[in-house]
Amino acid sequence: MLSTPQRPTSLAVLTSGGDAAGMNAAVRAVVRTGLGAGLDVFAVSEGLQGLVDGGERIRLVDSNDVGGILHQGGTVLGTARCAEFRTREGRRRAARNLIERGIDALVVIGGDGSLTGTNLFREEWPELITELVDRDEITQAMADSHRRLTLVGMVGSIDNDMFGTDMTIGADTALHRITEAIDAIHSTASSHQRSFVIEVMGRNCGYLALMSAVATGANWVLIPERPPEADEWEQAMCAALDAGREIGRRLNLVIVAEGARDRRGNPITADHVKQVLMDRLDEDVRVTSLGHVQRGGAPSAFDRYLSTGLGYAAVEQVVTAPGGDPQLIGIRGHQITSSSLVD
Ligand code: F6P
Repeated sequence: MLSTPQRPTSLAVLTSGGDAAGMNAAVRAVVRTGLGAGLDVFAVSEGLQGLVDGGERIRLVDSNDVGGILHQGGTVLGTARCAEFRTREGRRRAARNLIERGIDALVVIGGDGSLTGTNLFREEWPELITELVDRDEITQAMADSHRRLTLVGMVGSIDNDMFGTDMTIGADTALHRITEAIDAIHSTASSHQRSFVIEVMGRNCGYLALMSAVATGANWVLIPERPPEADEWEQAMCAALDAGREIGRRLNLVIVAEGARDRRGNPITADHVKQVLMDRLDEDVRVTSLGHVQRGGAPSAFDRYLSTGLGYAAVEQVVTAPGGDPQLIGIRGHQITSSSLVD
């Protein structure tokens, strides 16, 4: 039988998946809260790849190491896609790298894939350390003192696509970025009486498209959560835009989420929307794909304080419930919450 896990003496923090503004604020909060709780805090660079590689990529940090990063976009720790972590061999190396440093608590700031991957790592942990003992890579005593991996996750993603939190880290900043860009398009579109079709990111989630459409007063928005009837939506969209022209609107804005589809599952692309507006309404149309501009730049005030609160709560979770079920720290109804990561 496994003994009750002790309060951890150290933790490691990493960022993984697509970068998101506010990740740095979360890292800073985890590091400083961890140090304040008397833990040794390790920062892992280049995401899950850093766990597999070990060496200089898992380094002990102090408070100064996370100074001056609160306002910076992206992630100062770096992030990377890691094929090796998807293999058992890679995860075994990651376990060894952690145990060698006396780490058995991990705070991960990442998207769906990263959190799912690290949860598998947590589930396999007891077997991985048994394998490491069998291979003489760690001692039995090292294995005995790190029987379980404590895992706490925070969602870092501009997509706002995760159950368990009303807002993901970076979504608010991306929404501001998109809104500013569309405001800029507004003046040129209006001057030329043009129609603009704007493609926004979000993978399979329409949050950024829908909220930016509301925030900018767009005429039409296409999102994956509400797939329109195939063969009918073009007509409905054209009627709405036409009605706008009738009452003197000088511009049209159509926002297309990158994951937009019709009810048959056919992708709805910005280029297709452009063609429809040209063919059916004889509009002068331009397509703007905002691309990675949406993900870059300084975090909004909301993302800074959200991430700070989440980072603090993540360490609290590590300290108060070591070895427990993996938790996702999020925000619901303006309260920082903890819920099952597996859910
Ligand atoms: O998940 C965040 C996100 O920016 C999505 O909105 C987008 O589909 C994807 O990542 C782009 O990924 P990459 O940076 O690998 O091109």
